[in-house]
Amino acid sequence: MSGNPIFSVKNLVMDFSISGKNFFSKQQTLRALNDVSFDIYPGESLAVVGESGCGKSTICRIAMRFYNPTSGKMLFDGGDVHAFSGDELRKYRQKVQMIFQDPFSSLNPLHSIYYHLKRPIELYHKCDKIETKKRMDEALSLVGLVPPEEQGKKFPHQLSGGQRQRAFLARILAIGADVIFADEPTSMLDVSIRLGVLNLMNKLKKDMGKSFLYITHDIATARYFADRIIVLYSGHMVEWGDVDSVVLNPKHPYTRLLISAAPDPERDGLAKLDVKEDVENEVSFWTPEKKGCPFYNRCPVALEICSISFPDEKMVGDNQFVRCHYV
Ligand SMILES: Nc1ncnc2c1ncn2[C@@H]1O[C@H](COP(=O)(O)OP(=O)(O)OP(=O)(O)O)[C@@H](O)[C@H]1O
Ligand SMILES: [Mg+2]
Repeated sequence: MSGNPIFSVKNLVMDFSISGKNFFSKQQTLRALNDVSFDIYPGESLAVVGESGCGKSTICRIAMRFYNPTSGKMLFDGGDVHAFSGDELRKYRQKVQMIFQDPFSSLNPLHSIYYHLKRPIELYHKCDKIETKKRMDEALSLVGLVPPEEQGKKFPHQLSGGQRQRAFLARILAIGADVIFADEPTSMLDVSIRLGVLNLMNKLKKDMGKSFLYITHDIATARYFADRIIVLYSGHMVEWGDVDSVVLNPKHPYTRLLISAAPDPERDGLAKLDVKEDVENEVSFWTPEKKGCPFYNRCPVALEICSISFPDEKMVGDNQFVRCHYV
């Protein structure tokens, strides 16, 4: 990608302290993210895919400043996200927003859609009544909630799941965000509605230059919407690059497993891997003491070295990188 990234993540590590199995066991440290680094450029979408518990939402929560990272940094416009205060923090809260998985709990049931839009416009743009109304209607029209005068007066319970996600996106637009962290925004929607929301996000990206970090389990929607993709396994980036290169020519055994599990007629010939499913439950629990590749236990092509060292990144295509000893 050319130009400067709008949002960067540098060597992010996140440890959580968790209690043991019973009252007498010691506290344990769970490493949810291990050395995660990436850039998001203006007007691009970067997908993060991986199985449940691999750390996808933790990235969003750190970006929303719910947690401080154990080590590493997040940078917005070159500034350290977790050091912002005062006006810088206010600007960050305006420019970086998140859309959640559950459209039924992200809007306040007691307030109309207009109210959800009015508050941030008043807060961030200090407009008069007429300008506020104009901006609210513009945002609703942009996300396809038309006619805005009718849709804006509705309460969340009067909208479908897809319409609620649209209303939430309208709110993000009204705030004036440039970077949107979308944590599985379509996974609770009906398949037929999913495409509409993805197309809307695509429109915001292409026409308005918004940047997205798109989190999903679903590699097919990642390919549809994202420009680049990161495959995360147990908090480790195992493969990343241009979405087409990674999806059509996956190199890491885990990416191959993930992709071979999703049906796609374009991609025949990708043999199903013989992974060891019996150790599935161990995968999401990584600790700082552990060394090696986190996929080692399940990997059908694991080498001796995989249990002791996690490899450096290797470039395996024009814009495709992998961390695997076998490749
Ligand atoms: N506040 C917390 N305290 C302790 N452990 C946590 C906390 N938040 C997350 N974790 C653990 O960190 C790991 C990553 O969680 P995260 O929610 O990021 O996963 P995810 O990839 O978003 O999963 P899913 O696809 O199910 O949403 C999990 O093992 C989870 O149990
Ligand atoms: Mg999650």
